Amino acid sequence: MSVEIDISFAKSTKISGGLAVAVGSEASPVPEAARAFDPAGVLDKAVSVAGFKGKAYATVDILAPKDSPADRIAIVGAGTPGDRTSFDWMRLGGKIFTLIRSAKKVVIDLGEDEQPDAEHAADLALGLIMRAYDFDTYKTPKEDAEETGGKVKVTIVHSDVSGCKKAFADREAVAGGVSLARDLVNEPANVLGPVEFAAKAKELEKLGVEVEILTEKELKKLKMDALLGVALGSARPPRLAVMQWKGGKAKDKPLAFVGKGVVFDTGGISIKPAAGMEDMKGDMGGAAAVTGLMHTLAARKAKVNAVGIIGLVENMPDGASQRPGDIVRSMSGQTIEIINTDAEGRLVLCDALWYCRDRFDPKVMINLATLTGAVIVALGNHHAGLFSNDDGLAAALSNAGAITEEKVWRLPLAPEYDKLIDSKFADMKNTGGRWAGSITAAQFLKRFVKDTPWAHLDVAGTAMGSPATDVNRSWGSGFGVRLLDRYVRDTFES
Ligand code: BES
Ligand code: MN
Ligand code: ZN
Repeated sequence: MSVEIDISFAKSTKISGGLAVAVGSEASPVPEAARAFDPAGVLDKAVSVAGFKGKAYATVDILAPKDSPADRIAIVGAGTPGDRTSFDWMRLGGKIFTLIRSAKKVVIDLGEDEQPDAEHAADLALGLIMRAYDFDTYKTPKEDAEETGGKVKVTIVHSDVSGCKKAFADREAVAGGVSLARDLVNEPANVLGPVEFAAKAKELEKLGVEVEILTEKELKKLKMDALLGVALGSARPPRLAVMQWKGGKAKDKPLAFVGKGVVFDTGGISIKPAAGMEDMKGDMGGAAAVTGLMHTLAARKAKVNAVGIIGLVENMPDGASQRPGDIVRSMSGQTIEIINTDAEGRLVLCDALWYCRDRFDPKVMINLATLTGAVIVALGNHHAGLFSNDDGLAAALSNAGAITEEKVWRLPLAPEYDKLIDSKFADMKNTGGRWAGSITAAQFLKRFVKDTPWAHLDVAGTAMGSPATDVNRSWGSGFGVRLLDRYVRDTFES
């Protein structure tokens, strides 16, 4: 059963029972804060027996002696605390979560001498919450659930309580966005179709986001035949959700985020092999990240204008499906020959991008999509592919990626690759053959953005199924929310 973490901050330690955690360092493996829980002075021996030297992420966890105010005492190593980054503090929070699973009450005393600043204390709390995320909606609770699950009250002791609270309010907005994105990706496609996903987007109105849901009829009127063609084989109609957060000046052009939201990708008539196809319930990871980001920006009242647009469709084989060889006219007027119905993401995005540019004339336009298997071949699960027509934008995103550890790696765009998608019968075809599959997909999208500063993040390897980390145990990772929140903050709010 998943554990709900309830975080508060306090200036001093008051504990009776429960788990007491302190952060040790290489300079002082047993910090002063830990000694306060240890009147009998057993920690030095415990630490030496355990071979604990304060190294980063190492832990000692002991049953507290009789005269201690706590039931358990743990020390978590921070190595050289002064050198630690925001993400390092998040990881430390994730590590601490592994100790507190079965506790009901926890005090984390960050000490006086080597205490991290308020921002880093809040990062630690964010790491704790992100690690605690567990998608167990469909698991019937075990009979002994009372003992393993439920709520844990965590009090973080720090000298700057108001600073911590302020910093943590922002982290809560981030945690909310990440958790929303993870939920959307983890949710199975029978439960989350285009209409249901759109309803989730609509819920952001509670946070002050303006949300419009465009139906099939409206999409037809807009002539989004590339997007509509993908949806032909599905019994469930497509939707386009337009989310607007207006936190900036009225005259400021918005930042735009566009997401691929294929709720399930069978490949269509160019059907995928059966093995692993279940993962294609996550083919809306781009749209999930955009929705999560809009949540975060609104929840922390970001001082920017932002638009989030997600194209929601299901790609199914059926008598009504589109075929290889079909030619569709996109909203832009450019025609596309369908070579492979499994290259559907770009068909959804090209209309969403065009619509976005046309209606909002954004300052920058960033799209996220689980677009190609080829990007996983190139970069594995550890970097998202980054493509951009703007060096400044690419650099800013790379920088945000390095800070948040949601890493991106830039791949090239070039006219030589563009030629690979020229078609015999139409303005372009939707696949470019065997080589450079992620690049030709990006070249395709580039034809729909004109000279708007634009970046495409291919998150096929990072949005889902990426390896477990100290801050994520979920299949759907929520990749992109922290990255883009950081990009927005650093580029437009500071
Ligand atoms: N949704 C897939 C890409 C994908 C693959 C995402 C694996 C996550 C994990 C996309 O729609 C797709 O099928 N792409 C094809 C393109 C090809 C037909 C040109 C691919 O990558 O094989
Ligand atoms: Mn596909
Ligand atoms: Zn797809």
